[in-house]
Amino acid sequence: MPFTDTAPQGPIGVFDSGYGGLTILKEIQRQLPQYSYLYLGDNARAPYGTRSFEVVYRFTLEAVRYLFSQGCRLVILACNTASAKALRSIQQCDLPAIDPSRRVLGVIRPTVEQIGLTTRNGHIGLLATQGTVSSRSYDMEIEKIYGNRLTITSQAAPMWVPLIENSEALSPGADYFVEKYTSALMNADPQIDTILLGCTHFPMLYNKIRACVPPHVEILCQGGMVARSLADYLQRHPEIESRCLKENSCRYLTTENPEAFSRLAEMFMGKPVSVNHVAL
Ligand code: DGL
Repeated sequence: MPFTDTAPQGPIGVFDSGYGGLTILKEIQRQLPQYSYLYLGDNARAPYGTRSFEVVYRFTLEAVRYLFSQGCRLVILACNTASAKALRSIQQCDLPAIDPSRRVLGVIRPTVEQIGLTTRNGHIGLLATQGTVSSRSYDMEIEKIYGNRLTITSQAAPMWVPLIENSEALSPGADYFVEKYTSALMNADPQIDTILLGCTHFPMLYNKIRACVPPHVEILCQGGMVARSLADYLQRHPEIESRCLKENSCRYLTTENPEAFSRLAEMFMGKPVSVNHVAL
C-alpha cells in the first residue's frame, strides 16, 4: 500500500536487526546532531546473519514500511546483512510502488568507498555475519571500485551477534570466540593490514578484537564512514534533506523487551534513552 501522509518532514529512520545499528547511530548523531532520528531494532528476530535471503528481505521490508508509516522519508539500513540481502530489492522493486520520493540507503557502499584510504598494501580482512560473507557483497563492491588493487579475505563470525544480543560482549566467555575468528582470518592472509568490522554489532567487541590482532593492523568500524557518507548525501540531495526533521532528538523502538533494550542502549550511548515496544 502506498503512503500518502502529507506532513512536510519526518525523522531519519535507522534500522538494524538489534543493537548493532547503535554503533552507526552514535556516529551519525555526533556528526549530524541537528536532525531527529527514529531507531528501530528488531531484537525479537535477531540475529539475521544466519537467515535466508527471503527471510532477511521480508523482515527488512516490514521494518522499512513501519518506519515510513512513522513519517520517515529516509531510512538507513544500519545493518550489513540487510544491506547485502534486501537493499537492492527494496530500492528497485518496492520503493517505486510504496513512494518513489522516499529513500532507503545501506552501509556497504559507503564503507567500500572509504576503505581504500586506510590500507597500505591492499590486503583487507572482513569480519562479518555468515549472511554478509556468503552474499559476497563486499567482494563485488570492492572489485567494482578498485578492480584488483585490493584483495579481500572474509571470515564469518556467527557467534558474535548472539553474544552481543545476550549482553555477553564484555564477559570473559566471549574471549574464546573472538580469538577463534580473528585468528582464522589472520591465518588465511597474514599480510592483512586492515580489518573491516563489516557487521554493525562488532564494534561492541572492539577491545577484545584489538587484543587479538597485531598492533600494526588497523581495525575499521563503519560508524564514522557511514556518517560522513550520509552528510555528503544530504548535501547533494536538498530535496531529501529539506524533508528531514531537525529537532535534535532520537526515539528508540524495539520488537523485544524495552527495559532490556534501554539498559544496553543507555550504556552504549552514554545517556538516557526512551524506548517503546513495537510489533512489526
Ligand atoms: N548488525 C547486523 C549486521 O551489520 C546484523 C547482525 C545479525 O542480526 O546477525 O550485519
